Amino acid sequence: MGGGVVNRKHIKDFLSIADVPAGVLWEWLRLARALKEEWLAGGNKPVLQGKVLGMIFQKPSLRTRVSFDVAMRHLGGSAIYLSPQEIRLGERESIADAAAVLSGYVHGIMARVFAHREVEELARHASVPVINGLSDFNHPCQAFCDMFTLYEHWHWQDLAGRHLVFVGDGNNVARSLLFACSKLGIHITLCTPPGYEVEAEVLAQARAFATQSGSLIRTSHDPQEAVQGADVIYTDVWASMGQEAEVEQRRRIFRPYQVNSTLLAATGNPNVVVMHCLPAHRGEEITDEVMDGPHSIVYRQAHNRLHGQKAILVALLG
Ligand code: CP
Ligand code: NVA
Repeated sequence: MGGGVVNRKHIKDFLSIADVPAGVLWEWLRLARALKEEWLAGGNKPVLQGKVLGMIFQKPSLRTRVSFDVAMRHLGGSAIYLSPQEIRLGERESIADAAAVLSGYVHGIMARVFAHREVEELARHASVPVINGLSDFNHPCQAFCDMFTLYEHWHWQDLAGRHLVFVGDGNNVARSLLFACSKLGIHITLCTPPGYEVEAEVLAQARAFATQSGSLIRTSHDPQEAVQGADVIYTDVWASMGQEAEVEQRRRIFRPYQVNSTLLAATGNPNVVVMHCLPAHRGEEITDEVMDGPHSIVYRQAHNRLHGQKAILVALLG
């Protein structure tokens, strides 16, 4: 079991994995396990009875929207979906005003935004907890729930010393995985095309976490070489929401970074698992053969958004 000293300083918001001490991440992982087991045994106790989560979405969503809403219901609470047309964050009124007003109605805010500073501004002005449901900078709920999926996949053994290889764009999901792995002692290789790397300052921040956890961090431009010995291959879309104008150019550049059966074979690991945050663009970053094949755990990964986020909700709103 991993762990470390838990920093008891109160965590109000969850905007980035970088802000959460490793000991707290381990507490949340254990809580997620307990909540999943409780739910499988017949249902969760209504520990968030009467609590309401406001969910602001500036971009589309399937998993984040539905899993947070259902998680609140399972825990005895409820959620309100606020579409991009309704809130028009920072347009119809200032983010500060929206945060202050919402804080009088709901017990927590989950927000999916374009610019990361928007969710930071919400958190600064909201008196209730704010959870980042994806920004251009990161996707911490995704990465946390992915760590939960791996913890479960490896039968609740320590995650330290495993090797995750992210193949694709150095994007929001890649940055969050980098923070999560470097905090939990998982070795991580980020394999991206030249020009699409995670920023040097983000790598430096993760390397500081890694000195505590023993995680090794590598970067690469060569997928065949990068995946050797991988326990996990992880990929995401080549063009994220908001990058639609770059789709054609990225398709050409990222083509050698497709996760296909040749790349899987290059790991040399018969037990390698394949992850994708979804939605997937089948035939681009991942082939049908891999996504539907025996190494893929993508649907369990998606389903675990429900269980992992329950822990985040209980920790912040409970
Ligand atoms: N992975 C993820 O966050 O999916 P959605 O965009 O559908 O919420
Ligand atoms: N990188 C993707 C993740 C979607 C869940 C995006 O931002 O669109």
